Amino acid sequence: EKGTYPFYMLKEIDEQPAVMRTLLQKYLDDAGKPKIETDLLKALNQADRLYILAAGTSYNAGLVAKSIFEKLANIPTEVQLASEFGYNTPLLSKKPFFLFLSQSGETADSRQVLVKVNQWGYPSLTITNSEGSTLSREATYTMLLDAGPEIAVASTKAYTAQIALQTILAKALGDVRQQTTATDFDVKGQLSIVANEMQSLVDEKELINSLAKNYLATTRNAFYIGRGYDFAVSLEAALKLKEISYVQAEGFAGAELKHGTISLIEDGTPVMAIITDKRVASHTRGNIQEVKARGAHVLTIAMDSVAQPEDNITFSDVDPMLTPLLTVVPAQLLAYYTSLNRGYDVDKPRNLAKAVTVE
Ligand code: BG6
Repeated sequence: EKGTYPFYMLKEIDEQPAVMRTLLQKYLDDAGKPKIETDLLKALNQADRLYILAAGTSYNAGLVAKSIFEKLANIPTEVQLASEFGYNTPLLSKKPFFLFLSQSGETADSRQVLVKVNQWGYPSLTITNSEGSTLSREATYTMLLDAGPEIAVASTKAYTAQIALQTILAKALGDVRQQTTATDFDVKGQLSIVANEMQSLVDEKELINSLAKNYLATTRNAFYIGRGYDFAVSLEAALKLKEISYVQAEGFAGAELKHGTISLIEDGTPVMAIITDKRVASHTRGNIQEVKARGAHVLTIAMDSVAQPEDNITFSDVDPMLTPLLTVVPAQLLAYYTSLNRGYDVDKPRNLAKAVTVE
C-alpha cells in the first residue's frame, strides 16, 4: 500500500535506506563477513570471467557492478544487454559464469540467454526481487534483493539494492581470492554509512523539487554528464527522466560531450553534472565551463571532498565505489518531481510495462 504517498515511486525512493539495512542484516554476519552460499562462491571462484546480463535499469546497475567486481574480486567482468547477447554472442572465455540481474525475474530478453546458458552447461546466478520467478527457478543459484514489492514502473530501490548486493558478493569473492582490496574493505561499515547518507538525500525533497522546477519544468531535452561511476549513474539518471517525464535525456561520459554532442547545447539546455572522483573532478569542471559558455543551465551533484560552494546538491564522502548508491537518489527525485509537476501519472508512464515478457 502506498499509504500517504501520492505515488509508489516516491515511497520506493524513500525506502532505499531501509532496503540497504535489510541487505546488511540478511547477507552479513555480526562480524560483518558476507554470508553467501558456499557452492555459489566456489563456482564463482572457478570462473575466469563474469558475464552480467540484464535489461533496462538492471543493465545500468550491472554497469556499476562491473567495476566493483573487477576491483574487489579481481575477476574480468562484462556487462551485456541480454537482448543483444543472445543473438550476437561474443566469444566466451573458457570458464564463464553468468549473472542475471532482473527486478522482476521475468524479462524475456534475459530468459532467452539463460535458456542458452543452461544448454551450454555453464553455471549461473539470478539476482532478483521476485522469489520463485522464472529467472530464479532456471538459474543454478539465486540471491534475493528483499527490497519489497516495487510497483512503480520506473525502477528505483531495485537498482540500489542490486548494486549493494553485488558489492557484498564481490567482497565475498574477493575475500576467497585473498584480494587486499576486498579484505581491507569494511563492507558493513561502508554500506551503513551509505544508508545514513541516503537518508539525508531523500530528506532533501524540497530542495530537489525546487531544482526540478527551476531546471526541468518545460525543457524538451537534458543531459547528464559524469566520468567513471558518475558516467554509469548518468545513464540511469537520464533513463529515469526519459521514462516518466518524457524529457529526451542522454547520459554522457564527461569528455565525450565535446566530441560531437556539444552541438546540441543551446541557451538554457539543462546539463546535470555528477562529480565524485577527485582524479577527474577538475576535468569535469572544465566540461561544465564548456557547456556553460554555450548557454547550458548547469546543475551539479557533488561529493563533499570535490564539492565547490556553488554546487546544488552535495553529500558526505563515502567509498568511491559506493557513490552510485547516493548520486542516483537526487536523480530519481529530479525525475519524479519533473513528472509530477508536468501532471503525468508518475507510476504508470505511457507505453511502458513493469515486466516485459516478450522479446
Ligand atoms: C522494463 C521495465 O521494460 O524492464 C524497466 O520497464 C526495467 O523498468 C526493465 O528496468 C528490466 O526489468 P527487470 O525486471 O528484468 O529488471
